[in-house]
Amino acid sequence: MWDMKQFVILLLAMMPCLCFAQFGDAKWIGSEQGVLYADYLPQFRIAWTVQFDKASESHRMALLFGGNDPRLMNRNMNILGVENGVDESYIKLELDAASTCLNVWRIGYTAKGKELLKSFGLDAFDTYAPHLVEAHCCLGSADILLDGRKVGDVVLNPMGQGGDFIAFPQLAHIGYEMEAGQRAILHSVEVRNYRSPHAILYANKTAQSIGSMKKAMRMLTDPSHGSMPQLRCRFAVKQKPIKEATLTATARGIYHAELNGSQVGGEYYAPGISQYNKTHYYQQHDITAMLQADNTLLVRLGEGWWAGSLTFTGGNWNYFGDQLAFLARLLVRYEDGDSTVITTQPDSWEVCGRSKVTYASMFQGEVYDNTAMTDRWSRACEAVLEGHLPTEGGGTQPQVCDYSGFRLLPASTAVGLHTVLTAQNVNEVRPGVYVYDMGQNMAGMPRITMRHMRKGQRLTFRYAEMLYPDLPDYEDNRGMLMLENIRSAMAQDIYVASGDTCEVFSPDMTLHGYRYIEITGIGEPLPVANVEGLVVSSIDRFTAGFECSNPLVNRLWQNIQWSMLANFISIPTDCPQRNERMGWSGDISVFSRTAVNMADIDEFLRKHMQAIRDVQTADGRFPDIAPIGGGFGGLLWGSAGITVPWECWLQYGDLGILASHYEAMVRYIDYVDSHYFDPTTRLLVQQKQWGDLGDWLGLEDEKNDKTLLFEAYYIYDLDIMRQTALLLNHPADAERYQRRLEERKKFFIDHYVDPATGTTVFSAFDPNREGKPIDIQGSYVLPLAFNIVEGELRQKLVERLVACIERENVTDRGVRCPPYSLMTGFITTAWISRVLSDGGRSDVAYRLLQQEDYPSWLYPVTQGATTIWERLNSYTHTDGFGGNNSMNSFNHYSFGAVGQWLVNRCLGIERDERHPGFQHFILRPEPDPTGKMTYARGHLDTRYGRIESSWQKLADGSVSFIFTIPANTSATLLLPGKAPVELEPGDYSFREE
Ligand code: BGC
Repeated sequence: MWDMKQFVILLLAMMPCLCFAQFGDAKWIGSEQGVLYADYLPQFRIAWTVQFDKASESHRMALLFGGNDPRLMNRNMNILGVENGVDESYIKLELDAASTCLNVWRIGYTAKGKELLKSFGLDAFDTYAPHLVEAHCCLGSADILLDGRKVGDVVLNPMGQGGDFIAFPQLAHIGYEMEAGQRAILHSVEVRNYRSPHAILYANKTAQSIGSMKKAMRMLTDPSHGSMPQLRCRFAVKQKPIKEATLTATARGIYHAELNGSQVGGEYYAPGISQYNKTHYYQQHDITAMLQADNTLLVRLGEGWWAGSLTFTGGNWNYFGDQLAFLARLLVRYEDGDSTVITTQPDSWEVCGRSKVTYASMFQGEVYDNTAMTDRWSRACEAVLEGHLPTEGGGTQPQVCDYSGFRLLPASTAVGLHTVLTAQNVNEVRPGVYVYDMGQNMAGMPRITMRHMRKGQRLTFRYAEMLYPDLPDYEDNRGMLMLENIRSAMAQDIYVASGDTCEVFSPDMTLHGYRYIEITGIGEPLPVANVEGLVVSSIDRFTAGFECSNPLVNRLWQNIQWSMLANFISIPTDCPQRNERMGWSGDISVFSRTAVNMADIDEFLRKHMQAIRDVQTADGRFPDIAPIGGGFGGLLWGSAGITVPWECWLQYGDLGILASHYEAMVRYIDYVDSHYFDPTTRLLVQQKQWGDLGDWLGLEDEKNDKTLLFEAYYIYDLDIMRQTALLLNHPADAERYQRRLEERKKFFIDHYVDPATGTTVFSAFDPNREGKPIDIQGSYVLPLAFNIVEGELRQKLVERLVACIERENVTDRGVRCPPYSLMTGFITTAWISRVLSDGGRSDVAYRLLQQEDYPSWLYPVTQGATTIWERLNSYTHTDGFGGNNSMNSFNHYSFGAVGQWLVNRCLGIERDERHPGFQHFILRPEPDPTGKMTYARGHLDTRYGRIESSWQKLADGSVSFIFTIPANTSATLLLPGKAPVELEPGDYSFREE
């Protein structure tokens, strides 16, 4: 049997020396003392060793955890309708030797009070021998074990099973319960991490006699201890002129460094997320101006993406490891050529026994105790990887203990402060529950200014995108935060006030996606001006601007930008709020054309391509999520590894991204070729798994033939491969891809299109529907977008697409949708407007764009959206969340992929694919033929400067156009019905009849 431990040791031994030139002899250092914040820990393995007392013939005892969860002790903090007193809520494992069973009880979690969830029958066992009772609990699902053998599993969470729900229980308080007359010895209690290497979080090895002959006993205690690591180094510099001083730093986790009381670098969450076992980034900070004769460098560490909560899978807790660490080298160069070097060493650095940051987690939130004394400094410890790496992995999920090929690289992107918002209003929704509205859904953290708090006053902050509306379904919770869609991310900060006249709380080691912030623990509301929202993002500025006569479209544009800000935080994520925040490939693939227009994200996406390569499987599959790997999606997701670098090349004109990614792209196509085709039908069927997703969240996805979408994207991938091979001078590859491209295009037409009518038809993938018409919007978009059909046939498909848009449609769930409804999902929405314009039907594109009824882009805007929603009806004034309370993000950029069309067609600023990077470009503004939109104006900042474009319908029916072509570039102007005109740099203004 392959021993995982040996495997890790072997891998560690094979690791290249993890010392790097930039860091000299620096060592990863941290704290020996771990942190346990039990109220925020939804994954754990708890084990008790117990022994019944023979003398008293005892036979029943109960072991408790999940006790005194503050959320269950305050009616305002749960939607389960409970408010328990002390020691009234817990999970109870009752071991009954007399009837050889183990009962699992849930007490005080729901209005039912006491619930027997399961009773497991046990094999006969020796009552008076010591027994090991265990619960391995992960987001509310638990395995129960006796003496190392699983006796059964049970769902403890009353909210639901799995990662899609608010998580109960947390470890919270642990203890035992004994009836009167029952006695036992509790030999030990141990809490470990759920994920390997199952680090011990709490251990009490002292045997104690529990129970009393006279009275029943219940004992619950809080096992929490420790705080987040804080490191310190005091050093002097020589008293002579300094030429330059640099701090090179990184962390396992995230770090915040302060030199002599001032923050080093202005960024958040350094060093950023990456596939740390492959590529780990570091920062180089210029600290020349910050140095004094005697200096103190103070470093706080947070879990970031290294440890703690990550993804919707509870088992991914501590994904990369269970110990935080810091690595740094400080170099002071003097004018005379001399230098001082300080590196992280256990001997010269100290660690704080207790810091103010009790706990800091990206998903769970931050707990900050401003009364804590940051004292008790002791020697730091060297933090080695050995013994701290998980060994899980397999399938499409990488083995994070594999450090082969590990590199430390300088970071080229950073998360910074983008904007500061101030709360617009506050409502006391229940006595003492103050809800502030930031007026905008955002991602970041608050900055709260408080005056005259009591020392020790405990304030709780919770964050949500939505409030429960005033509708009958939500009657009990009206006006309160809707946290169901944040799911198992706790999204809660706690602040313990110092009592200073004025204090400011701004947790910087967590991330919240929210519009509303609830503050409790204060007698009266703080002034709204004291509740600020720090919007953080990897996007520092937008390169595109857009404005038109339709205010709803303007709001849509802003919503796209807000969702981009919130989801470009170190990596492109699906959403910033719930327990995902992951680099889902499908989302960035469809949004990438909009994204490259919106901001200069060349470096950002290069970094992301590195992450994709880092998690590419050995056989070539690009995973559905990067970094981290795993997930589901399949070809429409994995194609991001082809489409995204292509977008960057066309937009920014630097071939480097394709050059560094080409080999991975080739391996991916080989993977598809060898794994995804059915040898009999020759259809691209993928692996016939649920996870082979189609037009995700499309309203007619079930009416589509998914293999049509797979095939179309594969053809697009091949086309990109063909062109990339040519650009990189691989003519043989280019020829191979060209041949394959032609072959598959033909195959597509033969199997998915009726050539007489241009109607799409089902393939043999679904024998029951083979040859029958598909004929829905989502079936026409990709063959048109990727030029699979040409000439007359192409026009027929455009007509069919238009017919599908102009008619009434019915969703898979039977909802009737009016003409000009957007029936498409994540995948085809990105391209629908473009193919309509390409097919000469911009009139239909404009009607689709300006449709206000459901389903449409503007419908969410009419329902109050300030960001792009995951569903076009994530919320409606009439139906609330429509039953989608858990998978329902209000900040998901995918449907915002129409942004590309607003720039490229409505404004008409479009790159010329033969001259990437806007060396030459196309100007093709298309004024709204329906007349509803009467003007549009905007710009795009390219590397050649700002391109401006605007059009306006005038009262006499003519249209005026104004353009600016920046220096050193030129444009071809294409106006509907006119011959192309070449434009040199300059400003242009003219009128068309
Ligand atoms: C994510 C998506 C993602 C999808 C894959 C979701 O949970 O939020 O945006 O692409 O899973 O199906």
